[in-house]
Amino acid sequence: MAIINSGAGAVETGEWRAMRADDLDGVLALADASHPDLPESREVFAERLALYPRGCVVLDGDKGIVGYAVSHPIRRFEPPALGALLRSLPADADQFYIHDMAVAPSRRGAGAAASAMARLLGHAADFDTTALISVYGTVGFWSRFGFVPTSEEMAAKLRPYGVDAIYMVRPNRG
Ligand SMILES: CC(C)(COP(=O)(O)OP(=O)(O)OC[C@H]1O[C@@H](n2cnc3c(N)ncnc32)[C@H](O)[C@@H]1OP(=O)(O)O)[C@@H](O)C(=O)NCCC(=O)NCCS
Repeated sequence: MAIINSGAGAVETGEWRAMRADDLDGVLALADASHPDLPESREVFAERLALYPRGCVVLDGDKGIVGYAVSHPIRRFEPPALGALLRSLPADADQFYIHDMAVAPSRRGAGAAASAMARLLGHAADFDTTALISVYGTVGFWSRFGFVPTSEEMAAKLRPYGVDAIYMVRPNRG
């Protein structure tokens, strides 16, 4: 257990671990609380976990899941539609995609997300780039990890994610 002095007192960051099927209730509860305007079904989380377990991690708290992240490979600039099932991962996937990440308010500001990112970007190293859809004005947060807004035309794909959705990409190599 790592302890970080956040200025407001020592905060426990804990260790991220691989997500299991019996974590899904806790993951769904945190997802619903974190993304009330972008709901996704249990089936979406369960499918991503089944298709790409190494990209799915959780952070345990005293009373359940206090963080999760879901990621998997995609074809470049082809993020899944909101709420869509993939059925399978593309055999010609050429971009790593961070589908979602959330940390419970009680655990924010202590480096938990940064710790999850270090783990996910380790998996992403097999691909030239990593991408994600930034929402809720998180461009500043993601830019800390090397993501920049793409110049690619993505408006139609981003529309369901809301007016502030921005597709961001980071090079994994070089
Ligand atoms: C965004 C989120 C995952 C960050 O989690 P966190 O555990 O608080 O993040 P960390 O403590 O690891 O922060 C890492 C760095 O980013 C900074 N940061 C955190 N949130 C930020 C934000 N919204 N904008 C800019 N910088 C931010 C931190 O200050 C920290 O900087 P430092 O290394 O200089 O101290 C969390 O606020 C969250 O779950 N929000 C709701 C869901 C969400 O927005 N998910 C992403 C949708 S695309």
